[in-house]
Amino acid sequence: MSGEYVLPRKATPDSPLRLAVMISGGGSGLQALLKHQEGGTRLHATTLVIADSESAGGLSHARDYGVDFVAIPLPKDLKGDERRSAHEEQIMNIIDSKDIELVVLSGYMRILTSSFVSRWKGRLVNIHPSLLPDFPGAHAQKDALEAGVRVSGCTVHFVDEGVDSGPIIEQREVPVLDSDTVKTLSERIKEAEHELYPKVLDDISSGRVSP
Ligand code: GAR
Repeated sequence: MSGEYVLPRKATPDSPLRLAVMISGGGSGLQALLKHQEGGTRLHATTLVIADSESAGGLSHARDYGVDFVAIPLPKDLKGDERRSAHEEQIMNIIDSKDIELVVLSGYMRILTSSFVSRWKGRLVNIHPSLLPDFPGAHAQKDALEAGVRVSGCTVHFVDEGVDSGPIIEQREVPVLDSDTVKTLSERIKEAEHELYPKVLDDISSGRVSP
């Protein structure tokens, strides 16, 4: 990892790391994280959930756990790069206003601009449903099935300016079965994700992940 990555502080149980979790869909990963944080002494707490759509089902998990949440859809009145920048500016403003220390992408399906990434590098993590560097992009499970691999999995990595290309923190392997469809493989990978992501966030918060 190069020197441009600035990791978050080492947290303590009295002062857990303040996480913003960004989602686009059903948020099963968010739900698993909130459940993990609920039990016992934790070094991190989700203080904000951001969705890029008001219809993101995962917002209900934030509601259930009493966590602040906000939907920030793309501004309708702008186009192209201007629209992307204005959208991210809204996101950054709310993240700043909540003193967030680590941004956790959990099924967030938009690519962040390099200006967002450079500001958060080392404090911006993502989970991806394949064993990166294999099958980056939005259709990882379909691509794995089409390639005929016998093993796939999930990867937690720091986000850099590329697509699913930042430094890998940890991976979990998941078998691919002959009978698998995109749906069954995705579900099996999610089971692994729901264990891996909270564990990696524990490691980051306690300073066990180093450049
Ligand atoms: C997860 O499998 C996650 O790895 C994937 O979206 C799913 C979200 O599920 N992320 C990506 O594909 C990012 N490129 P969830 O909304 O139920 O947590």
